[in-house]
Amino acid sequence: MKIATCKAPVNIAVIKYWGKRDENLILPINDSISATLSLDHMCAKTTIVSSPDLTETRFWLNGELQSTGNKRFQKCLEEIKKRAKPDVECLNWHLNIVSENNFPTAAGLASSAAGYACLVYTLAQIYEVDGNISSVGRMGSGSACRSFFGGWVRWLKGEKNDGSDSLAIQVAPENHWPEMRVLVLVVSDHKKAYSSTSGMKTSVETSELLKYRAENIVPRRVEEMVQAIQNKDFPTFAKLTMQDSNQFHSSCLDTYPPCFYLNDTSRVIIELIHAYNEFREETKVAYTFDAGPNACLYLLEKDVAEVIEMINYVFPSEPIAMSSYFKGKAVPYTTIDEK
Ligand code: DP6
Repeated sequence: MKIATCKAPVNIAVIKYWGKRDENLILPINDSISATLSLDHMCAKTTIVSSPDLTETRFWLNGELQSTGNKRFQKCLEEIKKRAKPDVECLNWHLNIVSENNFPTAAGLASSAAGYACLVYTLAQIYEVDGNISSVGRMGSGSACRSFFGGWVRWLKGEKNDGSDSLAIQVAPENHWPEMRVLVLVVSDHKKAYSSTSGMKTSVETSELLKYRAENIVPRRVEEMVQAIQNKDFPTFAKLTMQDSNQFHSSCLDTYPPCFYLNDTSRVIIELIHAYNEFREETKVAYTFDAGPNACLYLLEKDVAEVIEMINYVFPSEPIAMSSYFKGKAVPYTTIDEK
């Protein structure tokens, strides 16, 4: 019998991935960049047992039995097995997989990113696969490929049709910008109305703005973002982050029929952050929103206390989950190998 347990962190994009050029291989239409959060607050945890005594492969997510017929799950399993050495004895054994997230699943809080990164990383422990396996995580959920590294991570869209060069690389390590923090403002923990997968498919089919963004804006913006991160230039980093979030949501509105991910509270947060930066006469906080109404705020450690105070004053009854950046990457924290 073999058992492995791993944890994987969430990543929050500052240059967004939205749109695939290949639905099957999950190849994006543009590069994206994110920061990987620490494992302390929001992460996925997966345990896999492989044994010759198991009669079928089963997968539980947050306590509920899932269908293992799921195409993305099958693809990840198949790709990891392809990379295993042929003499790994458990290659033909069935698996029991138990995964859980310690934060709302499918509420636009990057749960699939942490979940698939964790699943693939744990499978890699079971089948003894090393190397950059982010391209396998990508086939579970695109954004998952960025959770395989800590610090600042870029997902290269790649040029090849087989997807072999569409993988994640580290732009700067965990300890590069130690003052950086992320606050996650949980506006709603309800499951989102339109999944990222179907939303971005309709966007690719119908939004001319998305096409323009991918071809003409993002290539320049990712280079500017890499520079801003490497120079620890917070005002430039913050402006690019907010502009990219806004352009992503504009592309969602330009989608036909449109997909709305922000709600009135999200829009109040946007206005509040701009008002705060103006009041302080300096860009101190950046917001970014994924496919849901919850806000992620990037800011420096020295400003955290004041910003939390301001948020609590404006939203006295809203819960705030705080996640401190950094240290994160997919890690095996116990790997028990029993024969
Ligand atoms: C808005 O990675 O969830 O969070 O590849 O279809 O599984 P699939 O989509 P997913 O999309 C995430 C989109 C985003 C932006 C981002 O994380 O870059």
